[in-house]
Amino acid sequence: MDKLLVHGGATLRGSINISGSKNASLPILAASLLTDEEVIIRRVPDVSDTNYMVQIISALGGEIERSSGTVRIHNKSIVDTAPYDLVRRMRASICVMGPLLARTGRAVVSLPGGCIIGDRPVDLHLRGLEALGATTEFDSGNIIITAPKGGLKGAEINLRGTHGPTVLGTDNVMMAAVFAEGTTVIESAAAEPEVEDLANFLNGLGAKIQGAGTRRITIEGVTSLGSIEHTVIPDRIEAGTFMAAAVIAGEGVTLHRICREQMTAITKIFEDCGHKIIFNEAGDSVTIHRGENPVGAEINTAPYPGYPTDMQAQMTAVFATTPGISVVKDTIFPQRFMHCAEMKRMGADINVDSGTAIIKGVKQLSAAPVMASDLRASAALVLAGLTAKGTTTISRLYHIDRGYEHIDEKLLQLHARVERVKE
Ligand code: EPZ
Repeated sequence: MDKLLVHGGATLRGSINISGSKNASLPILAASLLTDEEVIIRRVPDVSDTNYMVQIISALGGEIERSSGTVRIHNKSIVDTAPYDLVRRMRASICVMGPLLARTGRAVVSLPGGCIIGDRPVDLHLRGLEALGATTEFDSGNIIITAPKGGLKGAEINLRGTHGPTVLGTDNVMMAAVFAEGTTVIESAAAEPEVEDLANFLNGLGAKIQGAGTRRITIEGVTSLGSIEHTVIPDRIEAGTFMAAAVIAGEGVTLHRICREQMTAITKIFEDCGHKIIFNEAGDSVTIHRGENPVGAEINTAPYPGYPTDMQAQMTAVFATTPGISVVKDTIFPQRFMHCAEMKRMGADINVDSGTAIIKGVKQLSAAPVMASDLRASAALVLAGLTAKGTTTISRLYHIDRGYEHIDEKLLQLHARVERVKE
């Protein structure tokens, strides 16, 4: 296993390219299962989560070629059972369920385990697929879901859960509805840009989807799909993470290949804290200048277009050394505060209570050996190490490698002093 040494005190400067979105790539890779023609998907980030998805599709019978960010997939014929050991390792694999059900009439997918950020139920996914006429049973850790003899039928479905809409649940129902007879309407749909990118991919294949990116999505059933070349949208969470790095330890850092419109909530919090965020005319590059007198802020995570839960850990690292009091409340994953205990080992002043972290900025953190626990918490620890006094050692780096493409190389390109070493 690798670990990352972060030598605090370097000033980040220069520019990097942000990668394609992991969270758009995963459902789009899964959606390739819906067509028997070849698809080409560009800017798929080289991270372990997309590698898992590629392995799953190949285990289902897909022919896949991957060269740097371009994935070429041809699912001429596929089986309906996803490999248990692979699906277990990545919660997002659940999004093969919808396309398998639509393409083959059946899907056998392991129940995703819970994970460190909290319980990860799939009741909303099943509610949506059953509304289309599917029947569900459970056997030795697998979900077995079957379409009726005459195929899935369009329906009006409300996918709202106690914590709001479901991103992958919306994806699964949208993909399953592509071949359903008649019209499907998804109310309380997730409106994330990644859902919209998936709908654009499906429409490019010949699906008839309207309203993606809003709370109400309509799908007219079709009988078959064709082929497409699609480029995945930029990763707004990776971009937000590097914006945080620039604010913590940078001077005029520029990020290329981003999308301003998808980062409104993220950008606003940085500006509320007194930092300067300057986009170019086209909105695909941004330069970040740390404010002279930064102040704390309050974050309440919410479904898109609200503040993303996937950014709250990274902002906690910013608030840890921002003068004043900041508050972070995660209404989507109330247990997603593993990073706080590790940051406190570095001298952060944080109190976590029932889904809310109260952070009092300190002058400087001090380096310590810390442990990565989940993807975004690990990224937050790297950010905290950038200005900590001394060298922070972050173990279990595989958590970061799940979702950040070559994070150490990008940090080195920005003149951070980091080293990836074997544990
Ligand atoms: C997606 O996960 C993202 N992953 C997550 O990013 C992100 O944190 C999450 O959406 C919320 O934005 C991918 O896109 C691959 P949800 P997803 O279903 O779809 C509850 C990262 O760091 N819920 O939108 O699995 C659930 O418990 C990852 O890149 C149900 O109750 O999340 C949560 O409280 C982490 N029943 C809320 O809804 C269900 O059937 C939102 O979850 C499904 C979800």
